[in-house]
Amino acid sequence: MTYSQILGTGAYAPKRILRNSDLEEMVATTDEWITSRTGIKERRIAAEGEDTSDMAVVAARHALAMAGCRAEDLDMIIVATISADMPLPSCAVLVQAKLGAARAFAFDLSAACAGSLFALSVADQFIASGRAKRILVIGAELLSRVVDWTDRNTCVLFGDAAGAMVVGPSADSHSGLLSAHLHSDGTAADILNIPGGGSRHPQSEEVLASKMHKVHMNGREIYKFAVRVLPQAILEALDANGLGVADIDHIVSHQANARIVESVLERLGIPLEKCWLNLERYGNTSSASLPISLDEANRAGRLKKGDLIAMMAIGAGMAWGSALMRW
Ligand SMILES: CC(C)(COP(=O)(O)OP(=O)(O)OC[C@H]1O[C@@H](n2cnc3c(N)ncnc32)[C@H](O)[C@@H]1OP(=O)(O)O)[C@@H](O)C(=O)NCCC(=O)NCCS
Repeated sequence: MTYSQILGTGAYAPKRILRNSDLEEMVATTDEWITSRTGIKERRIAAEGEDTSDMAVVAARHALAMAGCRAEDLDMIIVATISADMPLPSCAVLVQAKLGAARAFAFDLSAACAGSLFALSVADQFIASGRAKRILVIGAELLSRVVDWTDRNTCVLFGDAAGAMVVGPSADSHSGLLSAHLHSDGTAADILNIPGGGSRHPQSEEVLASKMHKVHMNGREIYKFAVRVLPQAILEALDANGLGVADIDHIVSHQANARIVESVLERLGIPLEKCWLNLERYGNTSSASLPISLDEANRAGRLKKGDLIAMMAIGAGMAWGSALMRW
């Protein structure tokens, strides 16, 4: 059995910072409300002319450098995103071209905020089967262009960023991705969506006027869903590997709301200190959130060889899952 290992990590966030105090000038909100309900203090906003693939490429270059891997050596590129540069072609082929990764085949994966976890699991299957040796997995989102900046329910939550991981076969039989556990529930599709701009409601004056091309969300329902299924997903991963909660050294999580992470960890009896939290600085960056957290924890020297990392993520779909990795 060949485990896949993360050989390099990288992240990128645009320079421009939008603070809660700035949002107070834009919608009827307060720093106090945003901080106490979500834990977010600021988020990054991409510059004009900066596209999702541009952010993805910067994160990818950092990950490739750490992995000691040239773009030409990549077999495969997966970009998890719901905010690609354009509907067609994929963001992944634009990244491929910008990196000069001529040998790689490239495609996008749509699982919203769980996208990077889903993509990592797909990459793992290609490594395990021997079909690929070097895979670039990216989560990149430019959500500032798909949120309604007049809707205080959503615009305070999201930010722009990209995170990347280079995945390859593990050098030994002890370390790597032990297992990933993915789930979807399409009956909850309406609690978080962008209803317009697709085949059901193609772009039209009406779609634009009713803002159907923007993010729509039932925050309370998502919150309840997340705190119910994420602890189950972590326990499922532990059970599958004959491990217990006490074996976990680090939690690397998608971060939508600090209260969701706190509540999930409390239910599991895992100290919050085991989780790398950066939501305060970035907001919810969707598929970028998990790889950015992994990169920051990695570059901070937090992750030691042999440590057990539990990953969890949830997003629109609903789509969610967990993974266990021996670093
Ligand atoms: C969105 C979220 C922060 C709202 O927190 P909450 O404690 O559930 O707040 P409620 O929905 O109960 O709203 C309480 C009130 O605050 C108001 N409110 C919403 N956004 C606000 C804002 N930015 N500033 C001030 N008030 C706001 C609401 O209108 C509501 O007012 P009302 O009671 O007069 O109707 C929370 O539900 C959440 O984080 N959900 C998950 C969202 C998520 O993760 N999305 C991405 C999934 S990957």
